[in-house]
Amino acid sequence: MIRKAVIPAAGFGTRLLPASKSQPKEMLPIVDTPTIQYVVEEAVAAGITDILMIIGKGKRAIEEHFYRNFELELELEEKGKEKELEELKRISNLANIHFVWQKELNGLGDAISYARDHVGNEPFAVLLGDTLVQSNSGESVTKQMIDVYERYNESVVALEEVDRDKVSRYGVMDGKVIDKNIYLVENFVEKPDPEDAPSNLVIAGRYVLTPEIFDCIGRTKPGKNNEIQLTDAMELLLKERAMYGLRFEGRRYDLGNRLDFLKTNIEFALMRDDLKEGMEEFIKELAAKM
Ligand code: G1P
Repeated sequence: MIRKAVIPAAGFGTRLLPASKSQPKEMLPIVDTPTIQYVVEEAVAAGITDILMIIGKGKRAIEEHFYRNFELELELEEKGKEKELEELKRISNLANIHFVWQKELNGLGDAISYARDHVGNEPFAVLLGDTLVQSNSGESVTKQMIDVYERYNESVVALEEVDRDKVSRYGVMDGKVIDKNIYLVENFVEKPDPEDAPSNLVIAGRYVLTPEIFDCIGRTKPGKNNEIQLTDAMELLLKERAMYGLRFEGRRYDLGNRLDFLKTNIEFALMRDDLKEGMEEFIKELAAKM
């Protein structure tokens, strides 16, 4: 059973400046909900009960979001705002959430290494705090990955097909399909040039890892951008154990860049019963002017 998840959220978010200067990029809202809350809810929907967030300077707002605010609760109670009060209580009860500071921003692999003591000797999920994924089936992508883990008892990464010219932004997988949308991984390359990429299937920001990854991270030398890359550590893990890829049917929203951030807000608003109609009208008005 997989109970624990790690959410790395220490990066500065330079691609979203100035919005991310004095608030964590993970707290920027999609409609009315911080990005990282969607990530936590995805983990919780997959049966995760314990979450460790890897944070750093300027990320305190994340802690405040998931802990209780008694003054605010009292205020809502006095004003009879029951719906809001219930929602706030629900958020602070989503999971046991813990925080640890990454001492230096030294790459995703380095960030995950801070989870070693907390995770112990169990398999665990990793969900990148600035990436949302939605599966067409409605079942959380993390849940689908945990199902694959339970079938093989080996690490699993979420895979997404992207255009060849975009592969250099991602970790790229080389492997063979073994069952519908499941791949047996043979190799990974972090951010290759398109001509060197072994495929156009990329790591989509969700992982289920076995605890051997921590030793592998310990043996990983600085790679792309002179940082300790999780992808390089997974390459080492592949030498010892099998690893599977799940190509999920659905969408990934990378909130680290401006245009995707805006598009995601519009798409999510269109999925909401309370906003759909108003948003559709607005889009029609805009389209008529173009
Ligand atoms: C990280 C990983 C990369 C993965 C990507 C997904 O890169 O290193 O392998 O494909 O996340 O978003 P980053 O976006 O942190 O540069």
